Amino acid sequence: MRIILLGAPGVGKGTQASLLAQALHIPKIATGDMLRTAVKAGTPLGLAAKHYMDSGKLVPDDIIIKLAIDRIHESDCQNGFIFDGFPRTLPQAQALAEINLQFNYVIEIAVPDEEIVQRLSGRRIHLPSGRVYHTLYHPPVKADHDDVTGERLIQRDDDKEVTIRKRLEVYYAETAPLVEYYAQLAEANALEFYRIDGTGEVDDIQARIRELIG
Ligand code: AP5
Repeated sequence: MRIILLGAPGVGKGTQASLLAQALHIPKIATGDMLRTAVKAGTPLGLAAKHYMDSGKLVPDDIIIKLAIDRIHESDCQNGFIFDGFPRTLPQAQALAEINLQFNYVIEIAVPDEEIVQRLSGRRIHLPSGRVYHTLYHPPVKADHDDVTGERLIQRDDDKEVTIRKRLEVYYAETAPLVEYYAQLAEANALEFYRIDGTGEVDDIQARIRELIG
């Protein structure tokens, strides 16, 4: 099964994709996580991406398309995968169409902007695994430490309010047009497209998604 989770920064794509990946036994492919790992390792990709990410801008399409397409050709993606944060521009979506990659579901998660700002300001992450916490809504058992490994959690450099607002602007300008793109593909019966309410408890939102995909 191939699924795309679409939505503004902070709507819970990563949180929901991790739960869905566990349930469906397919990998979550989060281009943001891949880029952060590259930045931390100081690879050429990380060096090229860092200043775009820190300022809330999108990394150029050619870099990110290659990263995502290389990843889906790895053996663990044979039975499907969940895209979290890709595609994010029309050229990225068109690059998937050009290699004839079909999707079963595109699910847009919607959350009001002010709730997004609250969510992202309190977010903490475990970089090696991509596990996501929130200081109030989903705190780790021991403050600032990962529940599974006990390693320290970090706050992302782009989770400052000014950068969050920039990322929202970029979302509405560059990613929101994908809603129309996938809605049209759904009308042509090429895939199923749904918009869900991303507010409320994490488990309830997961249940909404699971109900849609059967
Ligand atoms: P990326 O890492 O993809 O960031 P994003 O899309 O901005 O999304 P986030 O990870 O911020 O949010 P999310 O929706 O996954 O929410 P989460 O589950 O963490 O991208 C970062 C950067 O990389 C981009 O700005 C760009 O520069 C670059 N990049 C990446 N992909 C790219 C692409 N395709 N093209 C170009 N550039 C690209 O949840 C957020 C918080 O809310 C957490 O603390 C969580 O615990 C909490 N939370 C989740 N659900 C709930 C709930 N129901 N109630 C309360 N709190 C909740």
